[in-house]
Formats: sequence, structure tokens, C-alpha cells
Amino acid sequence: MKPFIIVTDGMDKNAFTSLKAIPEFDVHPEAKLTQDQLKTLLPKASALVIRSATSVGAEYLEMAPNLKLVIRAGEGTDNIDKKACEQKNCTVENTPGANNNSAAEHAIALMMTLLRKTAWAHASMASGQWDKNSFTGVELSNKKIGIIGFGRIGQIVCKRLAGFEPEVMFYDPFIKESPFSYAKKCDDLKKIFSECDIITIHTPLMDATRGLINAELLNCMPKHAILVNAARGGIVDEVALLSILKEKKIRGAAFDVFAKEPLEESSELRKLDNLILTPHLGASTEEAQDRVGAMAVEQLKEFFINNKTVNQVKA
Ligand code: NAD
Ligand code: MLT
Repeated sequence: MKPFIIVTDGMDKNAFTSLKAIPEFDVHPEAKLTQDQLKTLLPKASALVIRSATSVGAEYLEMAPNLKLVIRAGEGTDNIDKKACEQKNCTVENTPGANNNSAAEHAIALMMTLLRKTAWAHASMASGQWDKNSFTGVELSNKKIGIIGFGRIGQIVCKRLAGFEPEVMFYDPFIKESPFSYAKKCDDLKKIFSECDIITIHTPLMDATRGLINAELLNCMPKHAILVNAARGGIVDEVALLSILKEKKIRGAAFDVFAKEPLEESSELRKLDNLILTPHLGASTEEAQDRVGAMAVEQLKEFFINNKTVNQVKA
């Protein structure tokens, strides 16, 4: 029997076409699946290719007794119960590096949007106004920037920002040295939050980082500072964030990711005039999805045709 492969959250068009053309595979869906349709297909599944919208927990695994492989077409695997997969002998892989540049660029775009108020200026123009007085911003150049999590994406952000001549402090227990002369390691999160003009978060979501950015740290930030999170919801305490933004304790924040996604329609976070929101778009570029899709297809071939496991993520 051919491996039955389900692509749950969409895939780059070219990658999907090339996947469907592989004669050894039976690939689904033909069209976008509802959750109910997905559940009826799960009993046949040999592999799932998912992004952030599908969570693979024990419930899914029970419905998919033949599942051998879950590929996270992207970076973060916090939406996969990796222990439960391991117990079921199901391999978990991701596509490391494929979307990192796009995620880093999105974080920088959010910084600039906040600093120059472009999203709010656009909304004002779209409502028919010509208001030249309400949108005076600040420059990105020569700022002190705190990067929390100095892995692939954190370091790309640091490198891309070089032209703005920043002073960078990074926090990462597992990175000893910085390859950039303008970026220094700092083990004191409180110092980073007290001193930096801009803080950007780039850690994975895991036990050690859940709620890492708490009320105490947020309340250390200077009044002119901004906070960007294009990493994962749950790393920043959203209740504390809402409170410091409501009280205008910082200049503003920009978030691409949320503790619960999609962010509820009635969320208080949607009502703030100092918070920029995007719906988990960090990896949503043509280039990133092209690279992610191509890697996922190659990894499926390696696994089912060549018996090779590539980019495995362990529990
Ligand atoms: P990475 O593994 O290369 O880097 C993560 C870094 O975080 C590592 O250097 C690690 O040492 C560090 N880290 C681990 N625990 C830490 C802690 N307690 N405190 C501080 N740092 C800690 O991963 P990456 O490719 O840079 O991606 C980072 C995260 O970005 C992903 O896990 C994913 O959740 C998120 N991401 C989001 C989007 C998006 O669409 N918004 C896109 C891609 C990735
Ligand atoms: C990731 O971790 O790679 C991101 O969540 C990107 C995505 O797939 O949207």
C-alpha cells in the first residue's frame, strides 16, 4: 500500500504539485479540508505535513494508528506532542532554517511599523483623513536592542539590523559567544528589559520559556521602549502585556503570535491603540514557503522511499 500523506495546513503550490506527482505516494487533500474531513482521513494516515494551525496531540494520534511521520513544515514543534509521538513510534521532523530569514524580516518590519506608526497612519488615510500631526515617530538607528533567544532567527535579526548601527544585548543560556562585535551576551534579563529601547523575542515555546517574559520584566521597560514578539504566543504573559499597554507604560508592542490562535475576535488585545497585530505571518512569504515546501517533499521521499530520517525533532 502507498503511504497515505495528508497536508493539513496548505503548502506552496509548486511543492504540492511535485508531491502529488510522486507515484509512490497517495497525497491528500484535493481541496482544503475541514477539521471533520481531516478526522475521517486520519485512520488512513501514514504521514501528516502540518504548519501552526494543526495541533498533533494524543487525540489525533489515537485516530491515526498507522501514522509513521509528522513533518512540521516550519520551525516550532510546540504544537506537536512529541512524547506521545515517540511512544507511538511516530517520527517528528521539521524544516529547520527554511523560513528563518522571513521570520527575522517580519520582526524587523514590526519594529519599523511601531516606531514610525505606519499601520496607524495607513488606517487614518484609509478613513479619508490627512493627519500629518498624529504620527511623529522615532528612528531605528543607533538604538539599544535586546534579543531574547540568539539562535538562527535571533542572529539573522542581529545581522540584518547592522546597517542601523545598533548596540545589541542578547540573552541565550546556550549561546556562549556572539559573532557580531556590536552584540554582547547578557545573562541578566532584568538588565536587558531595563536598558533596551527595543526588545525582540526569538526563543522556542517550551517549559523553560512559557511565561518567561512576565509582569516583573515588562514593568522594568522604559516608557519609550517597544516589544516585538514574532516567536511564539505563551512566551509573553498576555495579561501583563495588556495591562502595561493599557496603562501606556511603554511606547508600544507588536505581536505576530498569541497564546491561543486564532486570537479571539473579542480579545482585549485587538482594542489597543499601541499594539500592532499580525495573524502569525512570520513565515508567510513566497520564498519561505517555497523552501519549506521543497524540504518537506524531500524529507517525505527520504523517509518513505530511502528509509532515511532527516531533521528529526526528539521529545
Ligand atoms: P533556534 O533553535 O535556532 O534558536 C532558538 C534559540 O533560543 C536557541 O539559540 C536556544 O538556545 C534559545 N533558547 C532556548 N531556551 C532559551 C531560554 N530559556 N532563554 C533564552 N533563549 C533560549 O530556532 P529559530 O529558528 O531561531 O526559531 C525560534 C522560534 O521562532 C521557533 O521555535 C518558532 O517558535 C519561532 N518562529 C516563528 C515564526 C513565525 O511565523 N512567527 C517563524 C519561524 C519560527
Ligand atoms: C514556524 O515555527 O515555523 C512558524 O510557526 C511558521 C509557520 O509555519 O507559520
